[in-house]
Amino acid sequence: MRGIQIKEYISGPQEMRVTDLPDPTPKSNEYLIAIHATATNFFDLLQIRGKYQHQPPLPWVSGSEFSGSILAVPSNGTATAFKVGDKVFGAAQGGYATNICAVESALRPVPKGWGYFESAGLFVTAPTSYAALVNRAQIKKGDWVLVHAAAGGVGLAAVQIAKAFGATVVATAGSKHKLDVAKRFGADHLVDYRDEKWAEKVKSLTPKGGGVDIVYDPVGLVAKSMSCTAWNGRIIVIGFAAGDIEKVATNRILLKNISVMGLHWGAYTKNEPEAIKGVWDGLFELMESGKFKGTCFTDKEYVGLESVPEALQALGARDTWGKVVVKVPQEGASKL
Ligand SMILES: NC(=O)c1ccc[n+]([C@@H]2O[C@H](COP(=O)([O-])OP(=O)(O)OC[C@H]3O[C@@H](n4cnc5c(N)ncnc54)[C@H](OP(=O)(O)O)[C@@H]3O)[C@@H](O)[C@H]2O)c1
Repeated sequence: MRGIQIKEYISGPQEMRVTDLPDPTPKSNEYLIAIHATATNFFDLLQIRGKYQHQPPLPWVSGSEFSGSILAVPSNGTATAFKVGDKVFGAAQGGYATNICAVESALRPVPKGWGYFESAGLFVTAPTSYAALVNRAQIKKGDWVLVHAAAGGVGLAAVQIAKAFGATVVATAGSKHKLDVAKRFGADHLVDYRDEKWAEKVKSLTPKGGGVDIVYDPVGLVAKSMSCTAWNGRIIVIGFAAGDIEKVATNRILLKNISVMGLHWGAYTKNEPEAIKGVWDGLFELMESGKFKGTCFTDKEYVGLESVPEALQALGARDTWGKVVVKVPQEGASKL
């Protein structure tokens, strides 16, 4: 196969090289998959530098999220959800390659009517936002939901899920272009959070200036968001894209009856596996009814594994929106 192998840690994506590598050999409980599209993530940038929480022993193939078609099923007969030729998306170590091995729980079928390109970046962002808004914050029709970094990967998923549940969405982002993208995916109100007065603006949009019912925060804006959160509001901590872990004044949590809650989707496999099916069932309903669309970045097209470094550089420079997906044409196969 071809792939981007890391033999020693590198200083950045400009040092990533595509080479010929031995085909991966699936373990007895793994599927072998031909990759047709691969999605980039910020943690890929950390991993190639040796700075991620999960660092496999060197050498390893970089990348994680992908979509593709099943080439071989597990030899031990325990996994039966997919057969040879089925289209799947998922996540496993080694997404920047033409072939990958993965266990059944790391795969889902490509939704009806969807292609490889749209589904490659679904595995992490879509369930994160669904579990956050539905399982944790118990979103309901009529809620006002503030989505920070609304044009980012998890943000654009959150905008669509909140809209599908009948909420009014206030989207924040750091450029006019990104706010326009959030609007295209359904956001009702747009606020540029480069403006210092963004929290006041958000509050003034809500009925009687009462504030939003839910704050979805992948950036690290909990403290400031409390000033535009309503009585009984819920604030969901998703991530720290701005870099700092906040310290917040807990008296403000008390004064407005606020619930601050975390969401760690990756840890559901270990801590609450029984909840995973419900999240994906809910998402598939939205995806197959057209209420949730793929969020692939389309300002520029990335084709071939050779374009992974450029795609990762654009992602790291905050120049992109949604999911940055690289198409991986397979020899002799239809491309998408
Ligand atoms: N809790 C979980 O289970 C879970 C799951 C997936 C991801 N996450 C976390 O959620 C966060 C967002 O993930 P994502 O996949 O949506 O990432 P992404 O697509 O790269 O989006 C991140 C957004 O954050 C905004 N941002 C604000 N300050 C930034 C800064 N200093 N540098 C870079 N971006 C900045 C950017 O939007 P503007 O340019 O508009 O400001 C950017 O679009 C990450 O911290 C990730 O680790 C958590």
